[in-house]
Amino acid sequence: MNLGLANRTAIVAASSQGLGYAIALGLAREGARLAICSRRGEEIEKAADAIRKDCGTEVLARPVDVTDSVQVERFVNDVQSAYGRIDICVTNAGGPPFRTFDNTSLEDWRKAVDLSLLSTVYFAHYVLPIMRRHQWGRFLTVTSVSVLKPIAGLVLSNSIRSAVDGLVKTLSVEYAKDNILINNICPGYTATERLKQAGNLEEIESRLPMGRVATPEEFANLAVFLASERASYISGESIAVSAATRWS
Ligand SMILES: NC(=O)c1ccc[n+]([C@@H]2O[C@H](COP(=O)([O-])OP(=O)(O)OC[C@H]3O[C@@H](n4cnc5c(N)ncnc54)[C@H](OP(=O)(O)O)[C@@H]3O)[C@@H](O)[C@H]2O)c1
Repeated sequence: MNLGLANRTAIVAASSQGLGYAIALGLAREGARLAICSRRGEEIEKAADAIRKDCGTEVLARPVDVTDSVQVERFVNDVQSAYGRIDICVTNAGGPPFRTFDNTSLEDWRKAVDLSLLSTVYFAHYVLPIMRRHQWGRFLTVTSVSVLKPIAGLVLSNSIRSAVDGLVKTLSVEYAKDNILINNICPGYTATERLKQAGNLEEIESRLPMGRVATPEEFANLAVFLASERASYISGESIAVSAATRWS
């Protein structure tokens, strides 16, 4: 299938490693020009070099904290100046801490809202008007299967990621006439640094229907498809990459 991604321009946030990196690499391998960011400048430059070496594509890399609206605005402006358009935007960030309600402080709640909700709002605020001018766009959020079924010990993710799901559904209606399609992708257990905080790998895998966690590439494949020309009538969905986990 020709995904029609050659020469599309894509922002992938929080992409020095893990799921963000896998999505960026997947889009680059399909010919998209990239703009990637994360907080650590050295790590995002390393990621950009690895992607350039892999597929020779153009990659703009910037140190950006996605919880800071000023930094997000500057990044989006840089991308727009460098490429002249933004066709695809994937919002992503690190995950909130593993906590029960009992041991979650009000400061934890505020930080988690900044990280998991407002970071997405900032990208939507600055990127959607640019997509509207071009009457084409794919806006994707990365959350968690916690949106579809709450996970014990993850009260922050269970609560705040559902707000992202609500935002995605609302925006999908408001921007449909502009040919901007907006979806939320929900990873299940996937082999990244973040998974190390979730517990013992063998124990986790013993509970999963397929007996193993996903690879970052298996997750990224859905994002690449949803970002593509071929995903032309899918919007307002929260789609899991979790191989039946929540039904077991
Ligand atoms: N892996 C899983 O099993 C799984 C399952 C469900 C949900 N998720 C969610 O999916 C998202 C990505 O997870 P992952 O597994 O890829 O995590 P990861 O391997 O820990 O990578 C997180 C990435 O986000 C960047 N980042 C973190 N905070 C940031 C900030 N404030 N501003 C900009 N960049 C930031 C990090 O780079 P810097 O440190 O350089 O900023 C890094 O590149 C998280 O929200 C996670 O909770 C993951």
